[in-house]
Amino acid sequence: MADRKQIKSKYTADRQIPGAFEGETVTRRAFMTTTGQVAGGVAAAAFLLPALGFAFGPVFEEYHQPWQVVGNTEDFGPDTYVPRTINLVEGIGDSGKSTVYVRKFNPRVDQVMKKQDEYNNYIAISTSCMHLGCPVHYVNAAQRFICPCHGGVYDFVGKVQGGPPVRPLDRFYTRVADGKVLIGPRFSVNSELQRFSPRDPGEPLDGVGQYLYPSTPDLRKIPGTGGSQ
Ligand code: FES
Repeated sequence: MADRKQIKSKYTADRQIPGAFEGETVTRRAFMTTTGQVAGGVAAAAFLLPALGFAFGPVFEEYHQPWQVVGNTEDFGPDTYVPRTINLVEGIGDSGKSTVYVRKFNPRVDQVMKKQDEYNNYIAISTSCMHLGCPVHYVNAAQRFICPCHGGVYDFVGKVQGGPPVRPLDRFYTRVADGKVLIGPRFSVNSELQRFSPRDPGEPLDGVGQYLYPSTPDLRKIPGTGGSQ
């Protein structure tokens, strides 16, 4: 029985496609369609890959901020803060440094903290304002942190007292070794001073605002704190 199926020629001319050239195996329409799809895929990847890297990069990132000695334990009392300079980013000179305010745990004001452990025997407060990130400074006479940019005011433990900041001042893990106080990675806190992974200024951690800024999945290991935050 003759093969009823006709074997299709690979040449477009043999298939009698209008406008076909002799020896051509792909129609110009198919060629242009494929080229357009490849170009579209490349353009989409150029937009999507950086965005995905930005969104999920922190998942694979580890803290490399080493623990830094900021003084002897007797340098810090419970009733006022001592400013210290630490390196936030290594290798970029002064622009990688920041001031941090350090004091000893004070049972009179620090009992509000939900978690007490070996990392908060000393309190280290970040100077980055939680409105837009301006540097705040501590005014001892008022026992307040003041932001000069838009009038943000924080109380002695770093909670917002007035102005536009959306959450308390960030903190740093601390620990004691050989009579020295060491500063570790930064973390953020809500109005009850519960710890959260570090957030950017302007991101609330209370009320409905916290759902507008969901946390980035964060599997970062925090050296010396026994896990991720
Ligand atoms: S940056 Fe501090 S109040 Fe605006």
